[in-house]
Amino acid sequence: EMLEKGGYNHFMLKEIHEQAKSIRECMRGRVYPEQGKIALGGIASFDGLLKNAERIVIVACGTSWHAGLIGEYLIEKYARIPVEVEYASEFRYRDPVIRSNDLVIAISQSGETADTLSAIDLAKKMGAVVLGICNVVGSSVSRATDGGIYTHVGPEVGVASTKAFSGQVTVLTMLALYLAQLKETLSKEERSNCIHSLWKLPEFVEEALKCEDQVQRIAYGMLRSRNCIYLGRGCAFPVALEGALKLKEISYIHAEGYPAAEMKHGPIALIDEEMTVIFIATNHSYHEKIINNIQEVRARKGKVIAIVSNAGGEVAALSDEVVQIPHSDEFLLPILAAIPLQLLAYHVALIRGCNVDQPRNLAKSVTVE
Ligand code: G6P
Repeated sequence: EMLEKGGYNHFMLKEIHEQAKSIRECMRGRVYPEQGKIALGGIASFDGLLKNAERIVIVACGTSWHAGLIGEYLIEKYARIPVEVEYASEFRYRDPVIRSNDLVIAISQSGETADTLSAIDLAKKMGAVVLGICNVVGSSVSRATDGGIYTHVGPEVGVASTKAFSGQVTVLTMLALYLAQLKETLSKEERSNCIHSLWKLPEFVEEALKCEDQVQRIAYGMLRSRNCIYLGRGCAFPVALEGALKLKEISYIHAEGYPAAEMKHGPIALIDEEMTVIFIATNHSYHEKIINNIQEVRARKGKVIAIVSNAGGEVAALSDEVVQIPHSDEFLLPILAAIPLQLLAYHVALIRGCNVDQPRNLAKSVTVE
């Protein structure tokens, strides 16, 4: 088993560290920086529909749903197509509206999640074209969908999803740029710049992984935490949700992700000296706003851990701990910001003596309703 884990103590840690490689695999044959082009063979036969889609509905569960939320920001920003992201379990039971120019995309690592499969069936019955973003080749989702894009990140064994998540977000980034290419919603130069940056993502991921020693030290400080709030704005908000999910899944510390500005509508009541608040303060465009939110937490004696992409500055001065990820284009930050959060959940769980790869009550794929 040690051999399968490639020298790591747990599959989760191995899979976290594989991400530069797995993202490279995911982009192989799809991202062409020299030509400034994205090629997605598995969906190319739907180019007409993709170009004219009036709406995209994404259905997924768990971590895949979080990836979908990041996809919403990216597709709306770059391709200007409205996107809705739904829990598959809600979509399937709530009599949803699907129109003829809507496109449905199902995201699933395993391709076997029962709710996602039922959502696909329902969407197909309603006449929609359904595409899949899936990791397991030949899985039920890949067979049930009309076309799709494999994440190709290799088998994921740890119950807490890590490299599958970064693969899904990479696919959604490629998809957003592919749609922008079809619809010409970005200038050639803008698109080409994005594609060049995307191609460098694995290098940034390698760089981001270097925060592990620091994150491990921070994890010791969270040994006795009972609650944590994760906050972010824009596409850092779904990253906050994902960070909170990772922590609660494997360390059993109660954690919630929130859009930072929503804190004042509830979670702020919970903040005292016992509360750790993790800010995903990576997005350049929300800098001032996030500083205000950090000040609100500090004024109530909360402990602040900030993930930043810029060293120094006001965020660093206001935070108890600062973890720096590489400075890159904003659209790559969700993947990079997720890395310290994956490592944090892993090390907190490890220190607390939890079964990292097989947390209680959870399954890798949920094939029942
Ligand atoms: C389970 C797993 C999660 C996963 C979710 C959806 O809850 O523990 O890691 O995100 O199912 O799974 P899928 O295979 O459809 O992405």
